[in-house]
Amino acid sequence: MPIRPIIQLGDPRLRVVGTPITSFGRPLHALLDEMTEVMRKAPGVGLAAQQIGETLQVCVIEVEGQLHELINPRILRASGDQTDLEGCLSLAGYYAQVTRRDHVIAEGQNRFGKKIRLEGRGLLARAIQHELDHLNGKLYIDLLPSMDALIPPGGLSDDEDDQDDDEAGDARANERRGRVRP
Ligand code: CO
Repeated sequence: MPIRPIIQLGDPRLRVVGTPITSFGRPLHALLDEMTEVMRKAPGVGLAAQQIGETLQVCVIEVEGQLHELINPRILRASGDQTDLEGCLSLAGYYAQVTRRDHVIAEGQNRFGKKIRLEGRGLLARAIQHELDHLNGKLYIDLLPSMDALIPPGGLSDDEDDQDDDEAGDARANERRGRVRP
């Protein structure tokens, strides 16, 4: 099955609040499988349905080799703060220092409609918040004090830059650096 390209900033579908899922059958499973493939190919640590043009409450997250599928999610609890570099597959090549909650507990449903909880700290917590924002039509740039805070492609310091092109195929290298590109 061919997979869809990742939609980039400027496409209005990225700004649409996802419609809740009410049917947990084969079309949803196919969408989830495609999203995981798109995320891994990018590579990234998360992907929201909006990023392949489906304005639905569906996202996938993969951190430390653990794949999470979240349907109709919401954040139940959040605590602490963390600030780190964050990117987005829909703003290819851009990064910014983004402050988010350090520990979150989200509730949602799995692909079969069963209620599930996902707890994360650090990078996983960051990815959960980033994806849930996507599902509500929000992007990390909305959290920046100004667009001057956005680091353009090639704008990372030498120390930070070694991941970019040579290691673009290494999502784990991004993870080690605590960098989210969902
Ligand atoms: Co993103």
